[in-house]
Formats: sequence, C-alpha cells, structure tokens
Amino acid sequence: MAAVSIRNVTKIYGSDTLALDDVSFEVEEGEFVVILGPSGAGKSTLLRVLNGLTPPTEGVVEMGGEPVTGKRDDVAMVFQLHYLVESMSAYRNALTGALGRTGWIRSLLTWYEDEDKRSALDALETVGLLDEAEQRAGSMSGGQKQRVGIARALVQNPTLLLADEPVSSLDPKAARDVMGYMKQAAEERNLTTIASLHQVNIAREFGDRFIGIRDGSVMFDGGPDELTMEMVDELYYGEQVGKGAPGEGAEEAQA
Ligand SMILES: Nc1ncnc2c1ncn2[C@@H]1O[C@H](COP(=O)(O)OP(=O)(O)OP(=O)(O)O)[C@@H](O)[C@H]1O
Ligand SMILES: [Mg+2]
Repeated sequence: MAAVSIRNVTKIYGSDTLALDDVSFEVEEGEFVVILGPSGAGKSTLLRVLNGLTPPTEGVVEMGGEPVTGKRDDVAMVFQLHYLVESMSAYRNALTGALGRTGWIRSLLTWYEDEDKRSALDALETVGLLDEAEQRAGSMSGGQKQRVGIARALVQNPTLLLADEPVSSLDPKAARDVMGYMKQAAEERNLTTIASLHQVNIAREFGDRFIGIRDGSVMFDGGPDELTMEMVDELYYGEQVGKGAPGEGAEEAQA
C-alpha cells in the first residue's frame, strides 16, 4: 500500500481560482519527492492539502489507506520561514515538536517526558546541532535555524514530512547543507518526504523523484534522468520556450 495517495484532487479557491486541477499520484514509504513548478503553480496548495490544512474541493488524500480529513499529528511540516521561538534554545525549540503529545499546559510547566527529551537530542544530532543545543535560536544562522526547524519536525515522530520551500531564504551553500541534513534524516528514519523547491539544480541533487506542476496540473513525474533541461524549460516557461537556445530557460530557473 502506498504511504500517501492523492486521487483526483481539485482545489478551487473562492469561486474561480483553480489552484489544483485533477491531481493524482502515489508516494511509496521512504521516497524523497521534490515538487517543482513556477510561482502560482499550486505547490503550496498541494502541500497544504496533503497536510490536511486545506480541504480539497474534489478528490481524496489517503495516508496508509485512511482518508486525511484534517490536521494529523503524524504529518510534520517545515516552512520557508522557520517560526522558531528566538528567545529559546535550539533544544527547547526542538522539544516543541512533542507538543502534539504533551499539550501546551504541560509544556509551559516544562513537563516533557524523558523520551521526548531524548528524541529532541537525537533530532538535533541528526541535523548536526547537538553541540549547539543550548544556543539561543535567535543567535543562529539562517541555515542553522532551518535545521532546528527540521529537528522540531522530527521530534513530532512523523510518518510523513512535508516541506514548503525549506531553503528558499538561504544562500546556495547553506541550502545544500540543509537539504543534505533533511535527506539524511529521511534516509535514517525511512521517512516519506515531499518537499517543494525553487532551485532546480539543488532539487536534482537530492530528489529521488520529481513531480512538476504547472497551472495546477501534473506535467512531469519521474526520476532525475528523465528531468531533462527541455522538460524544465517546458515546466517553467510553457511551450513557447524551445524556440531559443536549448536549456536557456532552465539556466534561469536554476539561478
Ligand atoms: N488562500 C488562498 N486564497 C485564494 N487563492 C489562493 C490562496 N492560496 C493560493 N491561492 C492561489 O492559488 C494558486 C496557487 O497558489 P500556490 O500558493 O499554491 O502556488 P505556489 O506554486 O506555491 O506558488 P509560489 O511558488 O509562488 O509559492 C495561485 O493562483 C494563488 O494565487
Ligand atoms: Mg508556494
């Protein structure tokens, strides 16, 4: 059975904004899938539908054969902006991933289970921040903050990790570092991961499989070898590209 199955999902905002148009695909357990597509293609909408935060207008999302009808504790999300509590340490921020199990009241009283504390340290180790556990999040670099955001997501002990442009605010080196840690965490835990990325070249380095969407429809679904420059051009620039030099558009998309 697929870990995640999305079938005939259409999302219309308001009366006429078609954000997703009959999207169907399945993701196997442990797959690392990257969602690509131009601005406004529907990537964030797709991730929010998978997350249970946005109900589809039509169609269904299933996880492990069960329909997703709302937010689930076993689905974790990493965002472009980390939303950390800057005054708290990396460790405390990571621990908040256990809130689904602990509840706010107990967390205010800092009554976390020993297991949650171990899980926070484990997660910080996975993202290479064990030595920085006590550092205030506000004093960390953008890349470190994103890694704390990933650690927090791991503490949730998810069966599905979603990430919406997790490295868009970072320079290419920091972006690669963060993606490397995310990939490693997913591999270590056999964690099914679906991430949207703007940088095609970085996506190519880390994705096992790529789903390209344009105007709410899936235009591409395949592995790194099938994701040719022509395909990338078509995805980002539409059919009119191809009249120029081959790969020209793709270079821009990767810039
Ligand atoms: N909450 C909303 N209400 C109304 N329209 C929305 C809402 N969210 C997204 N849209 C519209 O749905 C379409 C898809 O948007 P979405 O944010 O999913 O695209 P995206 O691929 O994530 O774009 P970007 O790369 O810029 O983040 C766009 O036309 C957008 O304007
Ligand atoms: Mg988006």
